[in-house]
Amino acid sequence: MNDSFRPKQIQLNRYGQLKHFLTLDGLDKLLLTEILDTADSFIEVGERSIKKVPLLRGKTVVNLFFEASTRTRSTFELAAKRLSADVLNINISTSATSKGESLSDMLQNLEAMASDMFVVRHAQSGAPHFIASAVTPQVSIINAGDGRHAHPTQAMLDMLTIRQHKGQFDGLVVAIVGDILHSRVARSQIQALRTLGAAEVRVVAPNTLLPSDTDALGARVYNDARAGLRDVDVIVMLRLQKERMEGALLPSENEFYRLYGLTDEKLGWAKPDAIVMHPGPINRGVEIASSVADGSQSVILNQVTNGIAVRMAVMSMAMGGMTVEKNELASTQAELTANVR
Ligand code: NCD
Repeated sequence: MNDSFRPKQIQLNRYGQLKHFLTLDGLDKLLLTEILDTADSFIEVGERSIKKVPLLRGKTVVNLFFEASTRTRSTFELAAKRLSADVLNINISTSATSKGESLSDMLQNLEAMASDMFVVRHAQSGAPHFIASAVTPQVSIINAGDGRHAHPTQAMLDMLTIRQHKGQFDGLVVAIVGDILHSRVARSQIQALRTLGAAEVRVVAPNTLLPSDTDALGARVYNDARAGLRDVDVIVMLRLQKERMEGALLPSENEFYRLYGLTDEKLGWAKPDAIVMHPGPINRGVEIASSVADGSQSVILNQVTNGIAVRMAVMSMAMGGMTVEKNELASTQAELTANVR
């Protein structure tokens, strides 16, 4: 599997409902808007004193994180719990994979425990798609970030945050700044923004942090931060993802900060009401100044809160779509058996 891997559309049932959530590629504006509207309706649940709805009662959700995570893993767990699901968090480093069990065997064992949904983060692009199509197709699979390929729930929580602050996508100019090359977040955000109708998506980075085929990104490329940030409505800063870097792609962190780090001065090049976003974890003084991260234009913590509502939306929609399909399959099988008799 490589990073340019493009899954075929296996994430919808025959009524066009979600049953897996693997990528935003191929999902239309109507469906993305349904996710945002459903998430909106869950925001209120998070503000109640008893933060629960029974939509996933009796269902079992397994969090399978093969890569480090704080926000994504914990907001998936909270989202599942607020939907009343039972949640298992598998600690990969202490699981039997460390005794040599293969991924497929481990997943089939979890499926044999009547799990309904796997939330998967994996360093390999395409791993969640492989699990959904080849390993456990009866279990709904939600991609929590795969390699450099996609991070669709992150992009949707970012879209919810943008919609809350800007009202709509029409006419918006969005700049995504920093390590585009290694960023699954940037790839999913660009797809979401284009589908939802943003006027312009820019990527701002040195050539060493851009993919070789920038045309395939679907965004306007700027090497110069002043030009790239001019009059934008939204700035998304990205972390330098050193764990995915092979060799030195930068002269130094100081040099990167000087040219691309979001300081108050650079923020001044954007529209006065521009919002500042970051998927986290933030590295202060590397890609963003503390005064900006904690400043009045920053919506970074709103993104985290919105992550719960968006994940509740995606999980409940996918469980619904999967249940419809399973029920249909069961009634067709019952009919077939009746006909044989
Ligand atoms: C991002 C990720 O893991 O892709 N973080 C996240 O999910 N909030 C971005 C990153 O690690 O820099």
